Amino acid sequence: MDLLERAYSPEIFRQQGHQLVDVLANYLAKALSASPELPVNHWQAPEQQYCQAAENLLLPDTLAWMQHILHNSIHLHHPRFMGHQVCPPAPITALASMMTALLNNGMAVYEMGAPATALERLLIEQVAAKLGFDVSIASGFLTSGGTLANLTALLAARSHYAGTDVWRKGHTQPLALMVSEQAHYCVDRAARIMGWGEQGTIKIPVNERSQLRIERLESAYLAAQARGIQVIAVVGSACTTSTGSFDDLEAIGQFCRQHELWFHVDGAHGAAVAFSARHRHLVQGIEQADSIALDFHKMLMTPALVTALVFRQGERSYRTFSQQAEYLFGQAEPEWYNVGKRSLECTKLMMSVKAWALWQSLGPQVFEAYVDKVIANSATFAEIIRQRPCWELAVEPQCNIVCFRYRPLGLSDTETDALNAHIRQRLLEDGRFYIVQTTLHHRTWLRVTLVNPFTQAEDLETLLAFCEAMAKR
Ligand SMILES: Cc1ncc(COP(=O)(O)O)c(C=O)c1O
Repeated sequence: MDLLERAYSPEIFRQQGHQLVDVLANYLAKALSASPELPVNHWQAPEQQYCQAAENLLLPDTLAWMQHILHNSIHLHHPRFMGHQVCPPAPITALASMMTALLNNGMAVYEMGAPATALERLLIEQVAAKLGFDVSIASGFLTSGGTLANLTALLAARSHYAGTDVWRKGHTQPLALMVSEQAHYCVDRAARIMGWGEQGTIKIPVNERSQLRIERLESAYLAAQARGIQVIAVVGSACTTSTGSFDDLEAIGQFCRQHELWFHVDGAHGAAVAFSARHRHLVQGIEQADSIALDFHKMLMTPALVTALVFRQGERSYRTFSQQAEYLFGQAEPEWYNVGKRSLECTKLMMSVKAWALWQSLGPQVFEAYVDKVIANSATFAEIIRQRPCWELAVEPQCNIVCFRYRPLGLSDTETDALNAHIRQRLLEDGRFYIVQTTLHHRTWLRVTLVNPFTQAEDLETLLAFCEAMAKR
């Protein structure tokens, strides 16, 4: 066999694939059972990691090389992984990912991914129905991440208000959006990408539960107008990144209707609660939104990146990019099946197959079970924190994100900040837990996102005991 024959050999693929699936299944069993052989994280400083990566490339056995990567990565399936908002994917979705990676259908046009395109439409219809949209007029597509989905939605808002002419001539009037000061940074970034500058994002203060203060919208809107800035959209957070707080979408929707503004919901993290009968009330009013972004890779058990961007009035999603690309699209009409017409991406992953893999095998109830479990875990953790002396809860959790800190008596604010930052750094280096930190109202807080449904109360108790021991040391 020459090199290229070896590179594409079905037999080598079969053999390596079987071995790799065995390795991964053993890994999964160890991670899920929190085997002491496998800490959550194997911390190494970046330079050390770099040297080791270069050394491992010299390994003659590809499977051994992959095992090194596996061992040194952070383990999301470990019940003590509680860091960022990326979920441990269900194994079937990983198998679907492998299949789509091999197929590599490009997806920009229908013929480069016909079944995945049809599945994408079916998925968007299901998601639109869950979000309370009228599926006969709603539509949308999948795109690579909440960041891109938020930008694409705001581009649609811009062409809705400034007209599709904005695409040819740009615009001269300063435009802006209004959003909670606690919103994800990608919203501000989207405004700056659109050329709106710093003044393009009007940050609205939050209340004691970290929700956008609705009563501040009107004055901020009028103040912008007085400065010659036209506000065209309000972005609701469902939920915020730092604390997992849900804005009052009903009230934001009403405000947008009153002022004829585009209402976008950044539901990248929390719009998944629409799958849960128990928690759906958190996004009450979401059906008034003009557009909604929802990540499957945050609370819906799917590997990154898979984001649904859904428009209440689907036809508006076609006006964003009125650009000709004859070699791809031919004609200018709306065509749901040529996804590249509406998405910022040209070639994109066959995301629908990953998202459907679990849905098709276990039904949407599996998402409901997951959402209910991880939110229940955060309520349990909040209760544990409340019962322990010297621990503080930043905000009563609504989702699966909890912010908290250790505050022994007699410490100043600055000392408390330093102590909690130190605890988090020690935990990172220790590797038996993975949590992160955040800043709220200029103070440092520890933060967990309980993404693993197998995290137990005992894990959470042990985390606090660990932190206390580290603090005392
Ligand atoms: C509320 C919110 N919006 C958007 C994003 C960005 O999403 P992505 O990482 O999928 O681009 C995040 C990421 O954490 C988020 O929490």
